[in-house]
Amino acid sequence: MHLLEPDNLSISQTAEVISLARNIIQNPAKYSEKCKGKLLAALFYEPSTRTRLSFESAMLRLGGNVVGFSDSSSTSVSKGETLEDTIRTVGSYVDIIALRHPKEGAPKLAAKYSLVPIINAGDGGHHHPSQTITDLLTITELKGRTEKLKIAFCGDLKFGRTVHSLTEALSKYNGNYFYFVSPEELKIPEYIKDKLAPDSYAEVRDLQTVLPDVDVLYMTRVQKERFVSEDEYARLKDTYILDTSKMERAKSDMIIMHPLPRVNEISPEIDSDSRAVYFRQVKFGMYARMALISTLLGLKG
Ligand code: NCD
Repeated sequence: MHLLEPDNLSISQTAEVISLARNIIQNPAKYSEKCKGKLLAALFYEPSTRTRLSFESAMLRLGGNVVGFSDSSSTSVSKGETLEDTIRTVGSYVDIIALRHPKEGAPKLAAKYSLVPIINAGDGGHHHPSQTITDLLTITELKGRTEKLKIAFCGDLKFGRTVHSLTEALSKYNGNYFYFVSPEELKIPEYIKDKLAPDSYAEVRDLQTVLPDVDVLYMTRVQKERFVSEDEYARLKDTYILDTSKMERAKSDMIIMHPLPRVNEISPEIDSDSRAVYFRQVKFGMYARMALISTLLGLKG
């Protein structure tokens, strides 16, 4: 089984992964040898801090081992090797592969040639399903539910793959409502909206007007690396900056999430607000990936 998009896991499978992650948080020692003798390859063709290190930490904390690269220019890719051949090769050494790639659909192609499970660790501006498990775990732990929530996604909704994946996943639960807050140029793609009930979302330009109604605010970075024009990036990068004055309008139990890295979109003065949970979200990411790796290796429980 591969995890290429959130849709690859049913609601009940997702619930099992989240529940396993919660068990691991409660009793990490019980899982410290779960993946003994197993090997994860982290193949990162794009920059990453959290995703790669959380996959590696997750596998090591499960008693397994890791190999991989964080810069493909030092591998045979620079000699012209195709992704297919790299995957065939690495898949004959390891038990599971986490793959990040700038090309949308690369993990799907890799899955065709892989003998072992592939986890999409982010493909271009498309999907990022392991971040979605992280985000669902964060919401479950901190809001107590993943349904009947009002979620505002704010920033670069066009290229923000974490937004695409989380929207798809949250739309499966009852009564969730989405505010997509972005400038015209960075609106959520049609293929994501097509999966939503027409009365379950609104696209708006202004964050302030919707903020008082929101339970989960999901801020995002404008994805510089996906822009063709530097001027366009410069014009849009600071469209939204969350600061303490804006937060006065938000509910007292709203949570502020961000997949990180942040650039300017959340002022550091917000970090001490108890509603800011993005650094807790980082930690949940490691537990989410521990649960995911165990599940895809058939080692749950
Ligand atoms: C995100 C990503 O890589 O898509 N980061 C992450 O995985 N935690 C978001 C981003 O880079 O802005």
